[in-house]
Amino acid sequence: MMELRVVDRSYGEVLSALHRACFDDGWGPNSMDEVLRSPGVYAILAADGEMPAGMALGRLAADEAELLTICVAEEFRRQGLGEALVRAVASVVPRARALHLEVAADNRGAMTLYRLLGFREIGRRKDYYRRAGNSLVDALTMMIEPKKIAPPIP
Ligand SMILES: CC(C)(COP(=O)(O)OP(=O)(O)OC[C@H]1O[C@@H](n2cnc3c(N)ncnc32)[C@H](O)[C@@H]1OP(=O)(O)O)[C@@H](O)C(=O)NCCC(=O)NCCS
Repeated sequence: MMELRVVDRSYGEVLSALHRACFDDGWGPNSMDEVLRSPGVYAILAADGEMPAGMALGRLAADEAELLTICVAEEFRRQGLGEALVRAVASVVPRARALHLEVAADNRGAMTLYRLLGFREIGRRKDYYRRAGNSLVDALTMMIEPKKIAPPIP
């Protein structure tokens, strides 16, 4: 059964392994630990029994939150887990004024997910990401009020 929960720094290596499996420049254990030590950062881990399936990191600073990163292992994609992780990140900070994120303009799948959830595009950072082969890609900045997508308390 899939379970999503907030985890602490002791899960840094598990989170790092997922991140590296999903991104070419995924964060190693030291970088992950450094992020997890930063003020306001929290982590959500999704696991199917013992098997790590996805993760997301959020950060709360004053009354605004940010989705720092999110990934779902390939074999668990297109089953609603990405959506559940974004909602879980929002549910930790239901009183924040905004939940922001950045997404590469060529990441259609992620953008579709965020749009379906109701995120609105609020800006564009030109040539923000560098891809293998040195090509540059814009970042889109998006936001939503977290309480609009936080799951209801059962
Ligand atoms: C983006 C990512 C987290 C989505 O995770 P996921 O668990 O597959 O997402 P969901 O199953 O919740 O998707 C919900 C909806 O979003 C849309 N969507 C998600 N991935 C998509 C894709 N690759 N192509 C098109 N639409 C997609 C679909 O509408 C999907 O609903 P459907 O499956 O019923 O059609 C996952 O593909 C991933 O980890 N990618 C690599 C890392 C990454 O790009 N992270 C985001 C950085 S901003």
